[in-house]
Amino acid sequence: MTSERKPVAFGDLRGWIAALDAAGELKTIGAQVDWNIELGTVARLAQGPGTGPALLFNSIRDYGAGKRCRRLFTGGLSNYRRIAMMLGLSPDTHPRELVKLGRTVLNAAIAPKRVKTGPVKENIVTGDAVDLYEFPVPQWNRIDGGRYVLTYGGVVTKDPNSGTMNVGIYRGMLTGKNQIPILMWRAQHIGHHVTAWKEAGHSEMPIAVAIGWEPALGFVAGSPVPKGICEYDVIGAIRGAPVELVECETVDLLVPASAEIVIEGYLGLDPAGYVMEGPFAEVTGYVAGDRSPKPAIRVTAVSHRTDPIFRGTIEGSMPGSFSENGVCSSIMRAATAWNVLDRAGVPGVTDVWCPPVQAGVNILVQIKQSYRGQAKQVANALWGSSAGHVRYKHVTVVDDDIDIHDYAAVDWAIAYRVNAGEDDIVFMPATFGLGIDPSTRRRDRNVMQFGTGKWTRVLIDATINLDYDPDPDLGGARFPPNVWPAPDDIAATKARWPELGLDRPKRW
Ligand SMILES: Cc1cc2nc3c(=O)[nH]c(=O)nc-3n(C[C@H](O)[C@H](O)[C@H](O)COP(=O)(O)O)c2cc1C
Repeated sequence: MTSERKPVAFGDLRGWIAALDAAGELKTIGAQVDWNIELGTVARLAQGPGTGPALLFNSIRDYGAGKRCRRLFTGGLSNYRRIAMMLGLSPDTHPRELVKLGRTVLNAAIAPKRVKTGPVKENIVTGDAVDLYEFPVPQWNRIDGGRYVLTYGGVVTKDPNSGTMNVGIYRGMLTGKNQIPILMWRAQHIGHHVTAWKEAGHSEMPIAVAIGWEPALGFVAGSPVPKGICEYDVIGAIRGAPVELVECETVDLLVPASAEIVIEGYLGLDPAGYVMEGPFAEVTGYVAGDRSPKPAIRVTAVSHRTDPIFRGTIEGSMPGSFSENGVCSSIMRAATAWNVLDRAGVPGVTDVWCPPVQAGVNILVQIKQSYRGQAKQVANALWGSSAGHVRYKHVTVVDDDIDIHDYAAVDWAIAYRVNAGEDDIVFMPATFGLGIDPSTRRRDRNVMQFGTGKWTRVLIDATINLDYDPDPDLGGARFPPNVWPAPDDIAATKARWPELGLDRPKRW
């Protein structure tokens, strides 16, 4: 059963920060921190394996009183408690319930509302006066190719034919006071828009980036919302109220009226004008996305609230330090996969999970089997879906007696229910895939040349093989019973437990 939720409209980033503070989920850092490497190092060390607080940096070197922007917020969604708060649930809600809820909220819609103006218009800078170095953009990692201004902004573009807007998260590096090359893959929705604008004969595409707003902006912008559906609608459904949008100053796009900062301009579509970008400490936990020429935003205007709060994130999950992307992906990539399976008509799916350290590259699916080949159907459906583009490389399918939130349970199933000689391991070679996965050859990571990465996908079918003949010695079962005691024996033993003087075990 999915938990009851009470949608919350936090209003803006400030409302979200206040809610986090009240819930004990925020640490405000008053000591001065250097934007150059130190801030990113603090953020990475502090986030922990889903245990760290959200961080508000109030004092950043070179960005003190009187500067255009002096504060930075990060880590808002790097644990499940805060994701639950965003969804209007109790912070203690189990991730399994968050996935179930994610299934409905990512499919729901409340249309946005256009308003004339809003706080983001308090300050407007255009043309030559634009200088993005006035914002405390971190050099997040020593190894990054530069200061990354776009790490958690909602990048808004528009389909020139349908007029539908898309909001996605795409990384972007500062290479000049008004220039931001971005990592844009053609198989992403922004890439679809690039193709459409080019086909219509344009050399530039209007683009805007909203930095710093309610948490649903980053959560939904980083989610594979189906093509043709605008993320603003889905964000509205999460917060239970329409997103108020204002027009940009120099491009025909709409952005949240109470965003902290909006960067707008045009993305160059001609490869001759591409700008060197990268490398960057990436989602994989490796430095990836090698330095190469990329399409760049020519910034034509910046609007921002007075005393704006810059928003960014430290990308890259590793054991012991899970990124916002990793933690959010574990929910929304699992929820999306479950919906994909449902739409494809795969029966018997009882749970789906993507552990946070790898952001959904490995996915676990629990099913109630009723016929042989069901696990293969799961993998085929996931791999054939556009949601599988940069995720679901390794699909593990287990029976419904295996708790996919318990590593030991999955490990046990893989050990004793997988037989590679019986087609339980299946390869699907040369599919589309993540262009920054260091396990692929460098040539195959050339996204500019091929439009996407190249993955050999693997199914690990760790279900009991229904292709085996029922065994008369086992009363017609295909597998022997496991060693867990019979219910009557357990009940009798439980009755005597206090007398035995033993602690209550984890599995009871
Ligand atoms: C922190 C973060 C950084 C990301 N960086 C990129 C990126 O640089 N390029 C990219 O194509 N996708 C990136 N993504 C993933 C996309 O945001 C995600 O695939 C999303 O579904 C894209 O939106 P779309 O489905 O509308 O194309 C990032 C996601 C997050 C959360």
